[in-house]
Amino acid sequence: MASVELGFNVDHVATLRQARYRLDPFSPLAEPDPLAAALIAEEAGASQITAHVREDRRHIQEEDARRIRQAIRTRFNLEMAPTTEMIEVAKRIQPHEACLVPERREEVTTEGGLDVASQADWVGQVIQELKKMGVRVSVFIDPEEIQVKAAASVGADAVELHTGAYALAREGATAAKELARHRQASEKAVTLGLSVHAGHGLHYRNVRRYLREVPHVTVVNIGHSIVARALLYGLGAAIREMVQLLEKEPVEDPRTGD
Ligand code: PXP
Repeated sequence: MASVELGFNVDHVATLRQARYRLDPFSPLAEPDPLAAALIAEEAGASQITAHVREDRRHIQEEDARRIRQAIRTRFNLEMAPTTEMIEVAKRIQPHEACLVPERREEVTTEGGLDVASQADWVGQVIQELKKMGVRVSVFIDPEEIQVKAAASVGADAVELHTGAYALAREGATAAKELARHRQASEKAVTLGLSVHAGHGLHYRNVRRYLREVPHVTVVNIGHSIVARALLYGLGAAIREMVQLLEKEPVEDPRTGD
């Protein structure tokens, strides 16, 4: 198993910030900052930072993407719906990579990937626009031959295989069936000259099996399980720090904390 690059999906950090600072996400008080998380991820070995600027801006804001793109030393991968609005966003942000993902019901396949096959002309146009900017483009698809072939025919550089159904599989047989679909899709993608990425729902207990059984995967994009683990790993230290503060004499100026 060759080593596989980690793309850290920073969306969930922004979700937490938005829960408190939706009206002023760039206030000096707003936390946690997705840019700070991106820099830590890079320092810890992530090979790319991934963020999804959604049409409703429910977590990552365009300004987050811009700041992350400017500050990181690795690659910035913008997840985006294939829309004219998002092409304009990409023009402003200039990501190194873009991953086309579905957002509207009509763009989604049965299991949740982008339905490239049924909107090939439009997806092809979006890809060409992005490529003109020098962006490397992947499409987030279900592991189905028809979608892999469509991805190749519209000029994508890579497919990102949607691992959601594998991640949710509770029965061993269901997981094995999913892995077989991924294996076939990955083999097909490589014969058509596409790179293979994977993501959605991967976590500490399912990622190694996935990579053992699915060949050719070069990048996995993971967000939720990493953020969830970081939260619990960091909680004890955060509580201890607050308890220590409370044990001190009350301070004169509570804004400075000393
Ligand atoms: N890849 C794509 C295309 C996604 O949309 C997401 C979820 O935002 C991920 C990877 C990461 O998924 P998770 O947060 O479940 O690790």
